[in-house]
Amino acid sequence: MKIFAIETSCDETAAAIVENGATLLSSTLATSKDFHEITGGIVPEVAARKQVEAIVPVIEQTINSSGLKMQEMDAFAVTVGPGLIGSLVVGVAAAKALAFVYNKPLIPVNHLVGHIYANWVDVAEPPKLPALALVISGGHTDLVLMRGHGNLEYLGGTLDDAAGEAFDKTARLLGLKKYLGGAELSKLAASCEKNMLKDKLPRPKIKDEDYDFSFSGLKTAVKRLVESTEIEKEVGGAELFAKSLAREFEDAVSDVVSTKILRAIKEFNVKSVLIGGGVAANQNLRSVLEAKVTTLGVNFHMPPMKYCTDNAVYIASAAFFNNDPYPLDKINANPSLGIVG
Ligand code: KG4
Ligand code: ZN
Repeated sequence: MKIFAIETSCDETAAAIVENGATLLSSTLATSKDFHEITGGIVPEVAARKQVEAIVPVIEQTINSSGLKMQEMDAFAVTVGPGLIGSLVVGVAAAKALAFVYNKPLIPVNHLVGHIYANWVDVAEPPKLPALALVISGGHTDLVLMRGHGNLEYLGGTLDDAAGEAFDKTARLLGLKKYLGGAELSKLAASCEKNMLKDKLPRPKIKDEDYDFSFSGLKTAVKRLVESTEIEKEVGGAELFAKSLAREFEDAVSDVVSTKILRAIKEFNVKSVLIGGGVAANQNLRSVLEAKVTTLGVNFHMPPMKYCTDNAVYIASAAFFNNDPYPLDKINANPSLGIVG
């Protein structure tokens, strides 16, 4: 079954064709992030306008480079939420038009559930269920128990900032990048040979017997350290300070996330742990989780880096495994959709 999917939840305009939820046939991605870099944050109106400009070329490129014809698609799929309303409606309207013209079903997809399915595309073996799935991105940090396709139980999530938001704000405080600086922060952390700020940041909620997270306190603690000129002198200068802070910040996130996941493995007796979302591209988190999860004899799945951040590939995969077509007039953008509906 070939599904043509569209993703326009934020500042990426993406389309992809995936066969049977697992084999990538074609994928295109355009992004307006350079424009948001200029303003130091996303301007929803600008993102929506860029979606309108990019949507037709992205659709054309995806079908043309596949060597297939639109008539050969078995269904269309589209991200309906969560995301920015102005961006979402562009993709939803385009997908409805395609489904209408080619007289094929349209499958609505939850963006957060989509991130999880990056673990099903182009893999030797699909993840075994039940699984714990962590969606960790710029807008969300959600932990769910996945008993089967379409059978997700919410275990917990962030009570304030998403992990990616904390990465981005820390990168900004360190003067690395104004917008989406998670990857830059990670590069800086990797260059740190000795963490001079070890255990100087809190591990919020690490001891709490729940599966919720809180990252805003971590961000505030980073701010306090950055504002303290004394600490900078103590650790031996600005460069050493910045590298150590990046290292300590990543360690704090990885400690909290891995501790909660290990507790959930024991409580729910799962066969696998899956991660997805932009922060799932973080090398430190990937290696810490892989080491700890596999020690317990549980399979660990992480998508290749290119499928961590937003794209339409996993939207097509999620649509295949949650093949629930709706009448076109019942499919609408829902900017505040949660991971379990
Ligand atoms: O999933 P995504 O593309 O968009 C949302 O749905 O939010 O995630 C974007 C987030 C941003 O916060 C970005 O800084 C973060 O993922 N990110 C990273 C890395 N690559 C992207 N955070 C930490 N380490 C990385 N290597
Ligand atoms: Zn995302």
